[in-house]
Amino acid sequence: MEQKHGWHIVEKRQETSDTVTLVLTPEDGSAVTYLPGQYLPVIRLFGEKEVRRAYSCSTCPGVDARPAITVKRIPNGAMSTWLVQQAQPGDRLLAGAPAGQFVLPDKKPRRLLYVAAGSGITPVMSHLKKLLDAGVWPDVPVDLLYANRDSAGTIFKPEIDRRIERFPGRFSCTYVFSRETNAPHARHGHLNNGAFEKYLLDLFGGKITARDRTGTHVFLCAPTALMRMARMTLRVLDFPEKNIHQETFVPDTRRQSRTVDRNHNHRIAVTERNGSRLEFSVFSGETILDGALRQGIELPYTCKSGVCLSCLARCVSGEVELDFVEQTRREGPGALVNTCIGYALTEAVELAF
Ligand SMILES: Cc1cc2nc3c(=O)[nH]c(=O)nc-3n(C[C@H](O)[C@H](O)[C@H](O)COP(=O)(O)OP(=O)(O)OC[C@H]3O[C@@H](n4cnc5c(N)ncnc54)[C@H](O)[C@@H]3O)c2cc1C
Ligand code: FES
Repeated sequence: MEQKHGWHIVEKRQETSDTVTLVLTPEDGSAVTYLPGQYLPVIRLFGEKEVRRAYSCSTCPGVDARPAITVKRIPNGAMSTWLVQQAQPGDRLLAGAPAGQFVLPDKKPRRLLYVAAGSGITPVMSHLKKLLDAGVWPDVPVDLLYANRDSAGTIFKPEIDRRIERFPGRFSCTYVFSRETNAPHARHGHLNNGAFEKYLLDLFGGKITARDRTGTHVFLCAPTALMRMARMTLRVLDFPEKNIHQETFVPDTRRQSRTVDRNHNHRIAVTERNGSRLEFSVFSGETILDGALRQGIELPYTCKSGVCLSCLARCVSGEVELDFVEQTRREGPGALVNTCIGYALTEAVELAF
């Protein structure tokens, strides 16, 4: 069974015309443990339908007294519209345990570079607070390239500007505004390969050395097209893949669901985090998560589209096919598999959370 916790909204702050920060407190008063960059899986019933969405914490443990999520309203979006327009202090939220792997590297890097756009700043803000306000790795330069239409729609602009003033030489932020010219610390235009390559060359003083490449960790959180462009530019410039971290909020294309064959079953065994064991069967063409949910078995999940990683389990035996938007991958024993996009390939599959 997955863990769910009740939270109360204790404060609501308007960040821009369509974005709010909701400060939360656990209803049972328990201590909250999360890492900068992790998200909360928020769960809400809309009529009969349960909706789950991930929202990154914009706060940092040890810096902010309470965790907060920052939500941008998506037109016609079920959860974001409710959170931005209707949720109020005093309201109760249900959420799974904080999760996600968009976290700082274990080992001290030589440089940290962030590329964000729109609400993609949320988990980045949490990192910035850890690095700058909590003073982690004080000699590591931190740079942010942050794309938006204009200053007015830029989430956390006053907070970022304050840090530009407070940490000269340690922290730089370059805004990229598509609809505003001559703003301080800003370039006008769109972030494309040419502009990003020029930014990187300027950042590294005109020449990027092998030490720069291996010592820099890059964190991307933006629409998928922008992240694809940034990743390609970094790879062309030989920055190692393993140092490029990415948080995808929404995949840009929907996955096609497969035809379900109810005459063909696969046996699934799952060992949960508390050591208990579950057994169920799924149809061919049905994801392991959908098969479990159909039978009332609660496995953890949030996005159901292969991007948030809250459904990850280790494959112990058997084979699973993962149906990502851009590729299909066959995985076997030892691999981590997303149950929300994972189809059993063998008659029996054993997984462990
Ligand atoms: C790991 C992770 C962390 C996230 N962190 C944050 C965060 O900190 N702040 C935040 O505001 N959101 C965040 N998101 C996105 C969030 O989970 C929701 O996807 C988003 O709020 C839309 O949900 P909804 O129910 O309002 O819209 P839905 O009802 O799901 O969508 C309505 C329509 O809008 C489209 N759509 C959905 N999201 C977007 C988008 N971002 N841009 C363009 N079109 C979209 C959908 O394709 C659909 O057509 C995160 C997502 C993930 C996976
Ligand atoms: S539920 Fe998000 S990756 Fe599976």
